[in-house]
Amino acid sequence: MLNKFLTDRLAKILEFMHPWLIKTLGRDRLEYVASNTTNEVTKKLDPFIWTYDCKAKVIAIRQETSDTKTFVLLPNQHFSDPIAGQHIELTAIGPKGDAARCYTLSEITPETVSITVKLNPQGEVSPWLHDQVAVGQVFNISAARGQFVHRDQQQVLFICAGSGITPAFSMINQLLAQPSTDKASEVGLFYRTQSPENTIFSKRLAQLDSLNKQVKVELSYSRLPVDVVTPSFIDQLIAAYPDIKQQHIYLCGPELFRNDVIQYLESINFDMHNLDVEQFTLPELLQDQQSIKKLDEDVTVLLKSQNINFVIPASDCDKTILEAAELQGITMEHGCRSGMCGSCKTNLVSGEVSGQKIGRSIYPCTAYPASNQLVLE
Ligand code: FES
Repeated sequence: MLNKFLTDRLAKILEFMHPWLIKTLGRDRLEYVASNTTNEVTKKLDPFIWTYDCKAKVIAIRQETSDTKTFVLLPNQHFSDPIAGQHIELTAIGPKGDAARCYTLSEITPETVSITVKLNPQGEVSPWLHDQVAVGQVFNISAARGQFVHRDQQQVLFICAGSGITPAFSMINQLLAQPSTDKASEVGLFYRTQSPENTIFSKRLAQLDSLNKQVKVELSYSRLPVDVVTPSFIDQLIAAYPDIKQQHIYLCGPELFRNDVIQYLESINFDMHNLDVEQFTLPELLQDQQSIKKLDEDVTVLLKSQNINFVIPASDCDKTILEAAELQGITMEHGCRSGMCGSCKTNLVSGEVSGQKIGRSIYPCTAYPASNQLVLE
């Protein structure tokens, strides 16, 4: 009885100490200590630290708008090095059992990461997060992943709508935190939102705009659902950024909104090499597998960042680039293998692919070789 009492007290003290342990020891040292002391007793005593799973605990919840909340998470020692713009996969205990969803990190500090979640009443995970989850809740998360991250461009414009603000918000904050020599010289944010009341991070966006000379924030109120792109939206965009063709654009928001903005950029001959697009939903074009052109010759592939060359034999050209690379023993970063998570996204430097691509961004898990030479970033 006494033992149980003492064990419970110790477990409570350890739980209270999680933020301090992670801050003071750091995740690497904590991992070293925990991995050398994991046994049946410690696993029961503190399953957040003595575990082989990557877990996160909710340490604060903020209401951003009437239907959007931010969850501040303290990940355990198995989580490392998130980059602004990346997302995590979170496993929720929904009414139908475990369900996993990807959420972009809206804020990153040395100890915590945040996700900002809009309620979708028909969804499975967001109602659970909004209605059931309280401070102290622990769930499994994946490593941070995705390629929708800033890559040192000097003139950057984020065009986003609705909860598509989340990667832009974390990237802008990351850009401002960099040493002045590494900073982009100009950062623009053009944010489509329904109304002032529905604007996520409204106060903090106003502060970003007023406190930082290099940042310009422009809000565009739709009054309609945010994915409707109207002529007045385009007029406002051009008025705010007459030099739009000189910008490197990061685009994030609902699929309809993204497609309309891409269509507009195509219409003005925008250089699509300067466009990065974030997405979590399967694009329409993937459903039309018939349109995918299959090559009938060997393809040489160069993965520039890894300095790896390999050949896809003609017989494997009906495989995705990811599958074909794996058949040659080449490892490429990936997650869902279905074009939804963005983990495999890379840029096409030269050559042609068919299947999923947006601008110069391609998704090797759903893209096929369409020329006999490919250079990927
Ligand atoms: S988009 Fe998820 S692995 Fe390619």
